[in-house]
Amino acid sequence: MNLGTIFKYINYQLTACNEHDLHSPFLYNFYMELIKNKYPFADFKLLQQIRAQLIQNHTELQITDFGAGSKKLNNNKRRISDISKHGIATQKQAEFLYRLLNAFQPKTIIELGTSVGLTTLYLAKSVPKSSIYTIEGCPNLFQFSNQLFQKQQQKNIQQIQGNFDIEFPKLLQSLKSIDFIYIDGNHAYEPTMRYFKTALTKKTPQTIMMFDDINWSKEMQKAWKEIQLNSEVTLSMDFFYFGLVFFRTEHKEKEHVVLKF
Ligand SMILES: C[S@@+](CC[C@H](N)C(=O)[O-])C[C@H]1O[C@@H](n2cnc3c(N)ncnc32)[C@H](O)[C@@H]1O
Repeated sequence: MNLGTIFKYINYQLTACNEHDLHSPFLYNFYMELIKNKYPFADFKLLQQIRAQLIQNHTELQITDFGAGSKKLNNNKRRISDISKHGIATQKQAEFLYRLLNAFQPKTIIELGTSVGLTTLYLAKSVPKSSIYTIEGCPNLFQFSNQLFQKQQQKNIQQIQGNFDIEFPKLLQSLKSIDFIYIDGNHAYEPTMRYFKTALTKKTPQTIMMFDDINWSKEMQKAWKEIQLNSEVTLSMDFFYFGLVFFRTEHKEKEHVVLKF
């Protein structure tokens, strides 16, 4: 973290809301059921075991970097163990994603950035009857995650290999709408805004969008600010590490909240 981000983080810790500050029933219930509630779903045990195995897997993969890269891992060769420790959603964040999808039951889900595939499994297991489309540019990560999905016999994941810039608009042409999208790759201003605007073309009032690493850089902070302010967004939630946006028509007045995670 650079100095600016450290100050932002301290400010976040001092000012972020918890359940005591939330008055709207939607926000209060959201916080209580999805953040405070630590109910351990049966799938969590297996997913934790897979995470532990990935962290023990020291196989090196040649990485083709399509995105803004990683601050910690900038070698072309990376170990599965290092990617799993530093480059994917944490257990806490992945379990939150599971709870979120379980609560809202989205049918069409897109993940931009499969990496080793663990978070994709959280998404797929939380809503087994839904379709998960996950895009990954690096051929070796694509292959690695493909083997993981096959081993788990996870049937509701459709993997796409290629650059988000090409594959994401192409995928959207074949879909009626997006219910949930997790944008977790190519963390720079221009592509993030472009993926957001592309996703907007297939949103409904029920769509939820999640942006990872919103404080990763000044560019990401700028993109996140613009996304919050977009006139179509009715509610945005800032969890420092990631942000969520909603388009709910029940939310008559545009609202932005910073929530403790
Ligand atoms: C942060 S990782 C994704 C982590 C994953 N969602 C998780 O939590 O387990 C980002 C991934 O996006 C891929 N990526 C970044 N930019 C891309 C692009 N423009 N096209 C395709 N893949 C890209 C990278 O290869 C990397 O594997």
